Amino acid sequence: MTFEGGEGAGKSTQIRRLADALLQRGYEVLVTREPGGSAGAEAVRHVLLSGAAEDFGVRMEAMLFAAARNDHVEEVIRPALTKGRIVLCDRFMDSSRVYQGITGNLESDFVDALEQVAIHGLRPDLTLILDLPAEKGLARARRRSSEMGEGSAPDRFEKEELEVHEMRRQAFLDIAAVDEQRCRVIDADRSVGRIAAEILAHVEAVLPPLVLKGAGQAEPAAPAP
Ligand code: TYD
Repeated sequence: MTFEGGEGAGKSTQIRRLADALLQRGYEVLVTREPGGSAGAEAVRHVLLSGAAEDFGVRMEAMLFAAARNDHVEEVIRPALTKGRIVLCDRFMDSSRVYQGITGNLESDFVDALEQVAIHGLRPDLTLILDLPAEKGLARARRRSSEMGEGSAPDRFEKEELEVHEMRRQAFLDIAAVDEQRCRVIDADRSVGRIAAEILAHVEAVLPPLVLKGAGQAEPAAPAP
């Protein structure tokens, strides 16, 4: 399952809440994020978010995101799914479609080709798109940066104009409209608890069944060794 949306939409808070709820139900959960999530991808994350690759153009950045994603998928996500874990990923392929494809102005054939190479058929069962007016999301992201001090100055992708953020918001909504089966749009302009409850309801609808083991005790379908 993946979480998508603009900056400051509350993805990480909601991922933590969902992970706790799933653990309580007896599932094994892996929480991860992009860019990053595997050793190779974390190395590339630094290059991307520091802006070191910016001078080389958006095609180069898109290829680096794809390289990082492929490492993450093959080294971390696919093995976890094979063990029966539920994977919650903070950003995934839709972020590339939106940030590099739409606001980076890359041609869609190129973005599609990179996506195929990166995910190699591993599409999320469910994508939760946390939707928030760009202005509110940016204000939240800025507040978070200043609360966290110097070390968390806005990254390369947070510095862009409001208009660009609004365009991204629309692009996520467009993805959701085209891929209704996979995507759910969540109104993120509400309390944390209400958002969490709605997310849990969507997730429960697609959860794999727990296998009953021993004296009626619930265990994940394929427990980790
Ligand atoms: P991060 O610090 O993880 O921010 P956030 O809390 O917004 O998720 O930074 C990730 C940044 O990288 C974010 O601004 C979006 C951008 N990004 C892309 O441009 N393309 C991608 O494929 C991904 C995964 C992220």
